[in-house]
Amino acid sequence: MIYSKIAGTGRYLPERILTNADLEKMVDTSDEWIRTRTGIEQRHIADEEQMTSDLCVKAAQNAMDSAGVAADDIDMIFVGTTSPDLIFPNIATIIQHKMGIPACACYAVEAACSGFVYALSAADKFVRTGDAKCVLVIGAEIITKLIDWDDRSTCVLFGDGAGAVVLKPSGEPGILSTHLGADGQYQQLLYYPVGVSNNLAAAGVGDSRIMMSGNDVFKVAVKTLTAVAQEALDANDVDLDELDWLVPHQANLRIIQATAKRLKLPMEKVIQTVQIHGNTSAASIPLAFDVAVRDGRIKRGQLVLFDAFGGGFTWGAVLLRY
Ligand code: ACO
Repeated sequence: MIYSKIAGTGRYLPERILTNADLEKMVDTSDEWIRTRTGIEQRHIADEEQMTSDLCVKAAQNAMDSAGVAADDIDMIFVGTTSPDLIFPNIATIIQHKMGIPACACYAVEAACSGFVYALSAADKFVRTGDAKCVLVIGAEIITKLIDWDDRSTCVLFGDGAGAVVLKPSGEPGILSTHLGADGQYQQLLYYPVGVSNNLAAAGVGDSRIMMSGNDVFKVAVKTLTAVAQEALDANDVDLDELDWLVPHQANLRIIQATAKRLKLPMEKVIQTVQIHGNTSAASIPLAFDVAVRDGRIKRGQLVLFDAFGGGFTWGAVLLRY
C-alpha cells in the first residue's frame, strides 16, 4: 500500500512585526484586551512590495531543504490561499516559475483558513494513486492587505505568513485519512465582500473589508473543529490518549482551548503559535507544524492531527503518522 508521507517542512514569516502596543497607537484597543480575548501578542506584516508568492517561495525552499529535494524533483504544486498575487494565472504557477520547477500541474485552492488542509487532502490522493511522486503543498496569506486598519474588531486578529510541506510516497504509514466539509449557509458570518463578479469596482477604494460576526464564528468554530477532529480519530479507531499532537488552526487561543476542552485533550498536547503570528488563515497549520517539528516537540513516528476551520464555513482534519 502506498501512503503519502511528509518528507520535510518549512515556514516563512515577514520581518516586520506589529505588536499589540503598536496597535494601541492605531485603534482604540489595549494589549490586555487582545491578549485576554485572543492570546495574540504580535503578528508579522508583509512589506508593500512583497507578494504572497514570495512568502511561499521562502517557505517552500525551507521545506525542500529539510526534505533533501531539489526543484527538479517536484512534480506537482498545491497552494491554499485567499490572497493570491493575481486573479490569474494561479499562484502555484507563479511559484513554479520563481523556483525553476519544471512543468507540472499547479493547483490553487481557495478554502479560506482551511485552504492548507484542503490542499494537503487533495495532494494526498495524487500521491497515493501514484500520479505524483514529490508534491509541494503550501498554505500562505498576505491577509493583512484585506484588513481595514480602522476596524478594531478585526485588525487585531490577523497576520501574514507561509508554511509548506513536501509530500512523497512511502510504504510506511503517513497520512492515515483526511476529512473535509463545508456549509455555505454560514457565508454571512465571515466573508470579504468583493470578487471578480461581485462589486469589483469597490476593490482598492478603501470601502471593502473583512466582514465578521465574531461571537457566532467562535461558537461554530469550536463545535466544528471538535466534531471533525473526533471524526478523524473515530475513522481510524484511535483513542484520544494515543494522539501525540493536535495542530489546530491558529485563529484564537480561546477557540483552541475550548476545542481541546471539548475533545478532553490536555493543552500540553496542543501546538500553539497564534501568540507569535496571529491568525494567518491558510498558513497557520503548516506554520505551527513546522515550529513544533523544528523545536523537537513533534518527532518521527508520532500521531498528529491537523484540525482546520475557516470562512464558508469550510473545515477539515488530517490524521497522520509523522
Ligand atoms: N479592542 C478593544 N475592544 C474591542 C476590540 C478591540 N480590538 N474589538 C471589539 N471590542 C469591543 C466590542 O466593541 C465590544 O464592546 P461593547 O461591549 O461596548 O459593544 C466588546 O469589545 C466585546 O465585543 P465582543 O465581540 O463580544 O468580544 P468577544 O469576547 O466575543 O471577542 C473576538 C471578540 C475576539 C473577535 C471573538 O468573538 C472571537 O475570537 N471570535 C472568533 C473570530 C475569529 O477568530 N475570526 C478569525 C477568522 S475565522 C477563523 O479563522 C476561524
